[in-house]
Amino acid sequence: MAQRPYVVVHVGMSVDGATTGFQPDVARFYQLAQTWTEDLTLAGADTILAQEEALAQAEGPGPAEGGPLLAVVDGRGRVTQWEALRDAGHWSDVVALHCASTPERPPGRQVRELVTGADRVDLAEALRALGRDDGVRVVRVDSGGGLTGALMTAGLVDEISLLVHPCLAGERATRFWYGSAPAAAPLILATAQSLPDGLVWLRYHR
Ligand SMILES: NC(=O)c1ccc[n+]([C@@H]2O[C@H](COP(=O)([O-])OP(=O)(O)OC[C@H]3O[C@@H](n4cnc5c(N)ncnc54)[C@H](OP(=O)(O)O)[C@@H]3O)[C@@H](O)[C@H]2O)c1
Repeated sequence: MAQRPYVVVHVGMSVDGATTGFQPDVARFYQLAQTWTEDLTLAGADTILAQEEALAQAEGPGPAEGGPLLAVVDGRGRVTQWEALRDAGHWSDVVALHCASTPERPPGRQVRELVTGADRVDLAEALRALGRDDGVRVVRVDSGGGLTGALMTAGLVDEISLLVHPCLAGERATRFWYGSAPAAAPLILATAQSLPDGLVWLRYHR
């Protein structure tokens, strides 16, 4: 059986663990995201949907030659801006991850598909297939927590990178970085670094 890629979750969060409801330091977040030079960025559908309006209006520079692939978990077939994602200038190409129950796609849609799982995308199988067929060795997860929780529950996360912002999201928070991951999973601290503007960067291994 093909070995699955190394999976790192890199997330910007408030002190109370939220991924929404505060103003993240986007520049620092993406500067640190370059640490892993991932072969594949893995995003949840809701993360992409949160940007769809902006994507629809943007005229991107086109695919980034030599850049990572983008794979979007889209079990319910909700994402529509596939070409805008490909043209956004961050990724070399885009793959839609679907499952057998994903609603029928519009004819002629210009995006590669990988279908795994019955009612939801089989995340383990999708990662193995991307490793086997695309030579993906390192995956960086970009998610608001829903996808991260599912990956952690399935034992598919190797590293967690938390960029902690000096604020509380409080009742403005709607998502938390761990999603529905099981409680009491032990983590091993790899590094802890103070950064300018009160940011703290924590890296853990499973
Ligand atoms: N602070 C940060 O670093 C950061 C990073 C990214 C995004 N965000 C924010 O977070 C929000 C979105 O986050 P979110 O947590 O709602 O969603 P998300 O993690 O982007 O997306 C959830 C995805 O996970 C899939 N999923 C969940 N459980 C699954 C399972 N058991 N098996 C297979 N697939 C599963 C869902 O599948 P289906 O397709 O089947 O529903 C969906 O595609 C946005 O507001 C975004 O702006 C913050």
